Amino acid sequence: MRRRETLRLILLMALPLLLLSGLLVASIATAGPKKKPPSFPLILFSQATPDDYIDERACARCHAASAASMANSPHAPYMQDPHLALGFQGCQACHGPGGPHVAHRAEADHPYQYVISYTRAKPAEIAQACLRCHNDTLTLDHWRRTGHARANVTCTDCHQIHWRDRLGKDQAGTQGQKDPAGILDPAGKLARTPVFPAQPEPKALLKADEPTLCGRCHQAEANEFRHNFHHPVPEGRMVCSDCHDPHPTKDLRKRFHTFKQNCITCHPEVAGPFVYEHDPVSDLTGDGCLECHRPHGSSNPRLLNAFSRGLCLQCHSDKATHFTGRTCWQAGCHASPHGSNHDVLFFRP
Ligand code: HEC
Ligand code: HEC
Ligand code: HEC
Ligand code: HEC
Ligand code: HEC
Ligand code: HEC
Ligand code: HEC
Ligand code: HEC
Ligand code: HEC
Repeated sequence: MRRRETLRLILLMALPLLLLSGLLVASIATAGPKKKPPSFPLILFSQATPDDYIDERACARCHAASAASMANSPHAPYMQDPHLALGFQGCQACHGPGGPHVAHRAEADHPYQYVISYTRAKPAEIAQACLRCHNDTLTLDHWRRTGHARANVTCTDCHQIHWRDRLGKDQAGTQGQKDPAGILDPAGKLARTPVFPAQPEPKALLKADEPTLCGRCHQAEANEFRHNFHHPVPEGRMVCSDCHDPHPTKDLRKRFHTFKQNCITCHPEVAGPFVYEHDPVSDLTGDGCLECHRPHGSSNPRLLNAFSRGLCLQCHSDKATHFTGRTCWQAGCHASPHGSNHDVLFFRP
């Protein structure tokens, strides 16, 4: 009886040891045959020891143009702060610790398992790498839910991190890119006539000014600004991101769940509150402002969907014959179509 108990005790005590040695054997076994290396090794950061980080002046010896193009970058002053953790400083904050990279650089098959290469990465991986630092702009979860993320568009489709155009010609080196947004054809001529003659200076490291950048992928929408009546984007008085947040946070999504809230940040006078509200404007139902207006441009004055009785007849079909004029809001009639404080029929404000 007693013997059996001691035996059990010994077994119990030996169990963790047994498990441990089992694990050891297993890990040796897996270390033997090479596993497929990760193509985008963000894991380099968590694996790194302080010794793996090198003096980044070494990078410049082999990557002169890339180093020069970071010198004037808005990233530089923050990331060269010596108080930051090593994994958040300089070149290595984005490309991973330099030690392993330099040691393995000559290996013919896979130098890329030791350096984080954005030119080879998948779109989702790039976003993940940028959001190590930029999760105050938005979190990875927010990003994943955007139409852009779902369509495999990523940060570096809109942002140019190594901004070579901002440098003097002498510094730009051989990799200088005159046409980061790819708008020129190979002969260097404009591939198509510009929709936007006025091109303000790109900000926020964008590859081109917004209308050009966004218009490259959204040509149909960009073309709507060619209509006679349009929001003043081509004139440079507005940009696409005044209405479309490229990095919507959860709160913003909720707040802008219809575009009405967005429109009335700039046009508060039309939104009331009025004593006599007009349902489509007060947005109880439907698309709000977009029941009557086109957001980008229109061939009708005031960006209207239609410049005739048809506009109002979309909903008030019972009133098709009560007045024969061309529109319902001119000629002294419903002159205040957004709502009124004095008149249930919106004849005056
Ligand atoms: C002794 C030379 C040398 C040094 C020092 C060096 N690299 Fe490299 N690097 C290479 C070679 C060789 C390659 C692989 C060939 C290529 O694509 O240029 C490479 C590739 C890269 C790539 C991938 C390029 C791509 O195509 O996307 C990045 C990013 C990179 N290095 C960053 C760095 C950074 C950051 C440092 C400093 C921490 C650094 N390198 C230091 C030689 C070097
Ligand atoms: C904020 C992140 C960030 C920092 C900091 C950064 N890079 Fe990069 N690097 C990128 C991205 C993103 C790319 C992909 C091309 C692009 O967007 O410009 C890239 C591309 C490269 C390439 C490939 C060049 C090519 O055109 O194929 C090299 C080499 C490189 N970086 C080296 C460096 C060196 C050296 C430093 C430090 C002086 C540095 N990087 C700092 C993000 C960064
Ligand atoms: C190691 C941290 C870090 C990483 C990684 C990083 N950034 Fe930054 N980034 C910063 C800091 C710090 C600033 C400057 C402060 C700010 O504007 O928030 C900045 C600024 C910016 C700006 C604003 C520039 C301006 O003119 O206002 C953009 C755009 C940007 N980063 C994009 C990116 C993209 C895209 C990536 C991924 C390729 C990236 N960053 C990776 C730290 C980082
Ligand atoms: C590299 C190409 C590309 C660029 C650059 C680009 N987009 Fe997109 N965009 C897409 C794709 C692809 C989709 C998803 C498919 C679709 O709805 O057409 C999309 C979707 C959208 C949508 C639909 C709403 C959503 O989130 O689902 C809006 C709005 C939009 N983009 C606005 C913009 C704006 C504003 C810019 C400039 C700051 C821009 N895009 C730049 C490719 C691009
Ligand atoms: C469809 C184009 C597009 C994509 C994709 C995109 N951005 Fe931006 N980004 C912009 C535009 C336009 C601005 C300037 C307007 C603004 O501030 O909203 C900007 C501004 C920024 C800024 C500076 C201002 C701020 O809001 O903090 C940062 C940082 C930034 N982007 C980071 C990122 C990161 C990280 C990603 C990838 C997860 C990304 N961007 C993807 C278009 C884009
Ligand atoms: C005045 C605000 C405003 C401006 C400025 C603006 N948009 Fe829009 N955009 C809207 C609204 C509102 C919609 C929704 C239209 C709808 O649902 O029919 C929209 C729709 C879109 C869509 C289609 C989204 C989808 O769900 O299919 C794209 C793409 C787009 N805009 C791109 C752009 C681009 C590119 C620019 C800059 C050249 C731009 N927008 C400027 C307000 C604006
Ligand atoms: C960022 C500010 C801004 C936002 C957001 C905005 N607008 Fe505008 N809107 C303007 C400006 C600026 C003009 C041009 C006014 C001028 O030329 O005097 C304009 C013009 C108009 C006009 C024509 C006015 C006229 O007198 O001909 C209409 C209609 C209009 N906007 C409706 C909308 C609608 C609907 C939305 C939401 C989809 C919207 N706006 C969002 C700034 C904005
Ligand atoms: C029921 C249709 C309808 C709806 C819904 C509507 N509008 Fe209008 N809006 C009009 C008409 C019609 C005009 C032209 C009035 C005129 O020419 O006197 C107009 C004119 C405007 C103007 C030009 C300035 C003015 O007051 O005459 C702006 C700005 C405007 N609307 C913004 C908006 C915004 C923002 C919304 C959403 C909150 C909205 N509209 C919803 C029908 C509508
Ligand atoms: C998207 C649908 C829609 C459009 C477009 C629309 N209305 Fe209305 N309108 C309504 C609704 C809903 C009411 C309130 C319910 C009702 O009484 O019929 C209303 C009420 C009214 C009223 C108040 C009188 C009443 O019958 O209670 C007038 C006047 C009016 N609309 C005029 C117009 C004019 C003028 C236009 C064109 C500029 C217009 N509406 C376009 C939906 C619309």
